[in-house]
Order: sequence, then structure tokens, then C-alpha cells
Amino acid sequence: MDRIKIVGGSPLRGSIPISGAKNAALPLMIASLLTPGTLVLENVPRLSDVRMLKRILGNHGVDVTVAGKRIGETGEDGEVVRLSAAAIVDTVAPYELVSQMRASFWVVAPLLARMGEAKVSLPGGCAIGTRPVDLLLMALEKLGASIEIDAGYVIARAPKGLTGGEIDFPKVTVGGTHTALMAAVLARGTTLIRNAAREPEVTDLAECLVKMGARIKGIGTAELEVEGVANLHGATHRVLPDRIEAGTYAFAAAMAGGDVMLEGIAPHHLQAALDKLEQAGAEVIATNEGIRVRRNGHGIQPVDVTTEAFPGFPTDLQAQFMALMTRAEGTSRITETIFENRFMHVQELARFGARIRLDGDAAIVEGIQTLKGAPVMATDLRASVSLVIAALAAEGETMINRVYHLDRGFESLEAKLSRCGANVERIRA
Ligand code: EPZ
Repeated sequence: MDRIKIVGGSPLRGSIPISGAKNAALPLMIASLLTPGTLVLENVPRLSDVRMLKRILGNHGVDVTVAGKRIGETGEDGEVVRLSAAAIVDTVAPYELVSQMRASFWVVAPLLARMGEAKVSLPGGCAIGTRPVDLLLMALEKLGASIEIDAGYVIARAPKGLTGGEIDFPKVTVGGTHTALMAAVLARGTTLIRNAAREPEVTDLAECLVKMGARIKGIGTAELEVEGVANLHGATHRVLPDRIEAGTYAFAAAMAGGDVMLEGIAPHHLQAALDKLEQAGAEVIATNEGIRVRRNGHGIQPVDVTTEAFPGFPTDLQAQFMALMTRAEGTSRITETIFENRFMHVQELARFGARIRLDGDAAIVEGIQTLKGAPVMATDLRASVSLVIAALAAEGETMINRVYHLDRGFESLEAKLSRCGANVERIRA
């Protein structure tokens, strides 16, 4: 298994192109199941999760072809992926595939909407806690589906098609909103989705569905109104930039010190995180090119953070912010409200000498002046990248094991950091 070696202490100076968002690319690719036409997605990041989803969709009969340039070649765009689901050959998503990537459970909605049936393995828990799908199933039931759970599989049926309905989410769910949208666009009649997730990735999906012929009002708000149509057609859509990748490198620049331009990202996609970063003492400057983050000379200030649904501080940046706070000049409190068990990075950060104590759903981080490099590993991708951030500012060498977690969500991580002067090297197995 590949490892990444980082020797800390170099400031970051330069430009980092921000890739297309993993968490937008995945539901957009799944939306290709809704139409026999061709969906062309531009700026798709080269990530192992994307590769895995191509395989999963291929299993259902989607023809996937790719054209595009690599980072480092002329232009720095992601792949152009063409997905054509002219015929769906299988409405079953087996355990072997769904268990490897949770988001693949979302195929349940387009398969059901287009084919009247879907049999999809329950995804099960994962490293960040139990992650139920009850609200996704509730949404499908509100649109007239019958749901049965048998031998670890969800069997969803709507032989006469789905019908519009009212879906009130008791809590904000990104996957629930993706599911409700993909089911409602082909349902007969009008669907109201209340307390919808407003994450930019949900908006990106809704905008792509509109290009495919869907009728959706209220995009970007917590109340979506969908008027079902009989068919959707092909379209071309560009995946929005990855706000979590951008936030990660913004925190990395603040941690290591220096001056970094995050190319192609707009502040409104991660304003809550940028506000916290400024409170922590970094300078954040929005330009036409992207966001510039600087920290020169000043120490890192302690800042409390609570994760929330968008537009609040994202749970997917919690581990990275905690890494930054390990070197703050004081104590900070980081509260996780979205997932129950998303603190696995705490014990790994402790290997650098970080002082962190857990208190229910919060971590109390007592900043120290110097972290020391260490061998580490982590169990999910955001936790893994928090170790990269710590390593960039730690004295000496850090070896990060189980790099496949990073490859799931960060395109060309070593290349992007190296070109800003970091001492980062991948050691191939
Ligand atoms: C998406 O997961 C993201 N994944 C996650 O990113 C992200 O952390 C999360 O949204 C929150 O922003 C993708 O987009 C592929 P949720 P999702 O449904 O949709 C509870 C990463 O690192 N809930 O918004 O699965 C749930 O337990 C990943 O890229 C129910 O109770 O998250 C959680 O507490 C990790 N019942 C809350 O809602 C349900 O049926 C929000 O989860 C569904 C969710």
C-alpha cells in the first residue's frame, strides 16, 4: 500500500488549482441513470471514488467513456466523462459494490423512477459512525414507492411509476435531498421538499437536472418544488469546484505559513470556514482568480467551531480545522453535530504531540508550539488529510500510511502541495 512521506517546516507559496467536487460529481454521475440520452460531465476529478462509481454504473448498463487532460498537461481541467444509460440492464446494486462506497446507495432513486423497481444493498455503517438511510426511504415512500427490506437489501417498487408528494425532512440530509430530487423529477405531479439541504453540491445536481429537462423551483433554498416530467434528455454540465478541497488547502496554508492562491473557487461556497480562518489569524483575499490565503509572522489564534449543515461550518472540514488548532496560542472547542463519531483523527493527531481531550460531541484542543513528525494513519479521507496538515507544520518526518483514503477524495495531493514548496513524497508499495 502506498505511503506519503512529509518533512514539515516549509511554508507554502504558490498556486493550487482546485479540482471538481467529489461530492457533486458522484450524484451527477448517478443522475445519468435518469435518461436514455447522454450526460456529459466536465471537470470530473480523477479520484478512486469516481472510478469505483464508473464501475458500479457500468453494472447497471451505463456506457461510460472518458476524454480529458491530466493535471500537469496543457490545461488543468478534470476529465470529461460521457455517460449513456440507453438501456438499464440491471436494477440490482449488490452488496460487494455498495459496501465499498456509500454514495452508490443513491442509485435507488433514479432506478426506481425510471424502471419502477430497484434492489440496492443497505450501505451499513462506516468509519464516521452509523449512517442510516431511513430518511431516504421515507422520501421514496412519500412518492408512492413500496419499500421492503430483505436479507440486507432495500427492495423499492413503484410498478405504475412514482407520484408527486410532500416530503418534510426532520433533519437536513444531503443524500436524502439528492434522492428526493432524483425520484421527484420523473414522478407524476408536483413534489414539495421541505427542509432540503442547501449544500452547493445539491444545487449543482438540481441545476444539472434542469438542463436535462427537469422542472425545479427554489434551487438553493430549503424548499424545493419539483413538477415531474415524463422524460429527461441528455445535457452537458460542468462539476462545481470542490469547496472541501479548497478549505483543506486554505487551512494547510494557515498551518504551514506562507501565501497560497486557491484557483477557481468562490468564497460564498465556504464562507463559514473562511470566517473562522480569518479569526484564527490568516488573511483571506477574494480575487477574480480565486481565494488567496496568507499567514506571515502572526501566530494561530484559538477559535471555537461547531459543524452545521450549509451554510454553516462543514463537517467535512472539522478534522482539518482541528489540525490547525493543535498549534493555536490557546484552547479551542470543536463541536461535531452532524456525525456521532467523527473524531478518529484525535488519537492520530496525538501522535504528533497534540493535546486534545474529548468531551461528548466536542473536542477540546489545547494548542502547543511544536508538533513532532510521527508515523500515522487514518480511517477516513478527511481524517487522513488532517494528518497531512499537521505534518506540514511538524518538526521532522511524518509517514502517512493507508494513503488510499486520500486518493478517494484529493486529486494529485502531493503534486499540488509540492508545487507550493512542501516536502512531500509518495512512496509506492
Ligand atoms: C454527504 O453524506 C457527504 N457525502 C458527506 O461527505 C458529508 O459529510 C455529509 O453529506 C454532510 O455534509 C457525499 O456527498 C458523497 P447526510 P450524506 O445525509 O448525504 C443523518 C466526505 O468525507 N441521516 O447529509 O450521507 C446522518 O446520520 C463525506 O466526503 C439520517 O439520520 O450525509 C447525519 O447525522 C463523508 N437518516 C445527518 O443526517 C438518513 O436517512 C446528515 O447526513 C440520512 C441521514
